[in-house]
Amino acid sequence: MSELAAAPADTRPYSPGLEGVIAGETSLSYIDGEAGRLLYRGYPIGELVHRGSYAAIAELLWTGEWIADAKLPCLPVSEPVLTALRALPADARPMDALRTAVSVWGAVTNPSWPPTPEQARALTASSPSALAAFARIRQGLEPVAPDPDLDLVAGFLYQLNGVKPEAEAARALDAYFVVGAEHGFNASTFTARVITSTRSDIASAVCGAIGAMKGPLHGGAPSEVVEQIHEVGSPERAEAWVRDAIANNVRLMGFGHRVYRAYDPRAAALREVAESMEHKPDWLELAIAVEDVALRVLAEKHPDRALKTNVEFYAAPVLMGVGLKPDLFPAAFALARHAGWTAHAIEQGANNRLIRPDVRYVGPGARPLAEA
Ligand code: ACO
Repeated sequence: MSELAAAPADTRPYSPGLEGVIAGETSLSYIDGEAGRLLYRGYPIGELVHRGSYAAIAELLWTGEWIADAKLPCLPVSEPVLTALRALPADARPMDALRTAVSVWGAVTNPSWPPTPEQARALTASSPSALAAFARIRQGLEPVAPDPDLDLVAGFLYQLNGVKPEAEAARALDAYFVVGAEHGFNASTFTARVITSTRSDIASAVCGAIGAMKGPLHGGAPSEVVEQIHEVGSPERAEAWVRDAIANNVRLMGFGHRVYRAYDPRAAALREVAESMEHKPDWLELAIAVEDVALRVLAEKHPDRALKTNVEFYAAPVLMGVGLKPDLFPAAFALARHAGWTAHAIEQGANNRLIRPDVRYVGPGARPLAEA
């Protein structure tokens, strides 16, 4: 009989995917999934979209101060970051280019611990310039230097296209950045907090967060919304297409959410923005028709689980409407989320405890290696 012990049964609570586990405290945002409410430091998201700008919201998240006329112009891309971006293949994914740029930014600036609002401002204002530079380099174009008179979102569009954006496009993308800025302990934000908790720097936290957001379960849905709407083709085909998709267990992109059981308040805010745009994509009307059918069919199929429109559905027409190519959508989301990631890094650093959960062992008990 073996003298070696089997692994003892571990009866401590375990929740796969940490679902329902409270893994920290935050004063940055509050999500009420049942009622479909999202607050940043107490302020409702709908009001922030109407009355705030991304710069003001970022400042609110970093410092707790509401400065309505806050400005955050884009910063120039440093030579080492440009060199790294030029070395990438033209078909590199924009999320990989952005992660590379943040990594080089960190190596050059060597940010100290704990993370500070100054570091958050500098990184958040650098990344849009780097992404715009990569988007031009891959087309064989020269990067455009930032215009210090333009605020962050207008400055990003300017560096992307080489011409100053129309006020409407800048306003619509700014609204998208506001709703994308922060959303509790989602996978990328939790990643940023884990990295910060080891007393690693803010650039490493954001690199890790970008890596987490790159996964299709987190940041990839809006470009797939575009594909699905194109597939539907016309409002008359919406009913048949949606029913066929559901019958074949296809997931309708832009619907359902782990937390929201009500209409995602960010989708409501972006639908308003999309509908008010002069240069809305032709298929916005079609998207609205698809949404009506999808909500009806999903409710029939899942009467016990509320599956409503999520933020990604109306992010798609806004991003298309301002002229972004669909392969830039995930990286645009990552730019917007810089405010939240870095605010969480600051919050984690201010009251730090190393995040180091336990794991349940399910392997064999102790055993000897076989004799050679
Ligand atoms: N289309 C069709 N059916 C759906 C959808 C959908 N979009 N979402 C959920 N369901 C169904 C599932 O098939 C499942 O049915 P079953 O019980 O018969 O198997 C049931 O609803 C529950 O689904 P879960 O996967 O358990 O729900 P969960 O909360 O884990 O999933 C998720 C959330 C991943 C967002 C899911 O709704 C989905 O895949 N949606 C489409 C992709 C998308 O829009 N992602 C963006 C999310 S927003 C964001 O990340 C910023």
